[in-house]
Amino acid sequence: MIIEARDLSKTYTVGDRRIQVLDRVSLAVGPGEFLVIEGESGSGKSTLLSLLSGLDRPDSGRVIIEGRDITDLSEDDLAPLRNETFGFVFQSFHLVPSLSTLENVMFPAELRGDGAAREKAEALLARVGLTGRAASLPHQLSGGERQRCAICRALVNDPRIIFADEPTGNLDSVNGRGILDILLELHRERRTTLVLVTHSPEIARTADRVVRLHDGRIQAP
Ligand SMILES: Nc1ncnc2c1ncn2[C@@H]1O[C@H](COP(=O)(O)OP(=O)(O)OP(=O)(O)O)[C@@H](O)[C@H]1O
Ligand SMILES: [Mg+2]
Repeated sequence: MIIEARDLSKTYTVGDRRIQVLDRVSLAVGPGEFLVIEGESGSGKSTLLSLLSGLDRPDSGRVIIEGRDITDLSEDDLAPLRNETFGFVFQSFHLVPSLSTLENVMFPAELRGDGAAREKAEALLARVGLTGRAASLPHQLSGGERQRCAICRALVNDPRIIFADEPTGNLDSVNGRGILDILLELHRERRTTLVLVTHSPEIARTADRVVRLHDGRIQAP
């Protein structure tokens, strides 16, 4: 298994209210698998993704990535994992506003000292039809172009796992479909493990497996 989550629990406290978002959730994802996570708004999908990817810590339970327990890793040890093992695609694109399209994509590769950062970034941009936008700043791009740029950035270090949280949530249906097609194509080509949160039943049908969160638990299929 490339991802193993064991008995993850997460509670948020707002004022004097405690909300148990995840209640002993266990999940295993195989290498190269395409897993869809579904559930109503507020069911804890984004929370689960942030625990699996080390962006946040569970109250209890363990997260094991490629056989390594990452639950208690320090920020310093998590940083290379986030930059090299994982790729992230979010609903709001999180591009650096002052960097061009090309620079945004190159950035994670440069961070790890990859001498081929520019070539890799250019190849990815060509792949998603953004060569003509390489010099544009994020605010000069359309929503669909921004998300294509964000996908290239997520892939530039050839991550073994992609976490995508409603990557088409801010796009119209035509653009959204195009983005998902690109993500799925790249997942197939590179055999990347893909963990995708989506509300689209159409996409869920193409997944290897779908899990549904409800009342803090994964519902039995
Ligand atoms: N930092 C936080 N502090 C307090 N409560 C939070 C925090 N993050 C999330 N929550 C609460 O936890 C619950 C789950 O949130 P989460 O974002 O994981 O849901 P989701 O399934 O991703 O929903 P959506 O489909 O709307 O994105 C919600 O009730 C939310 O209000
Ligand atoms: Mg969410």
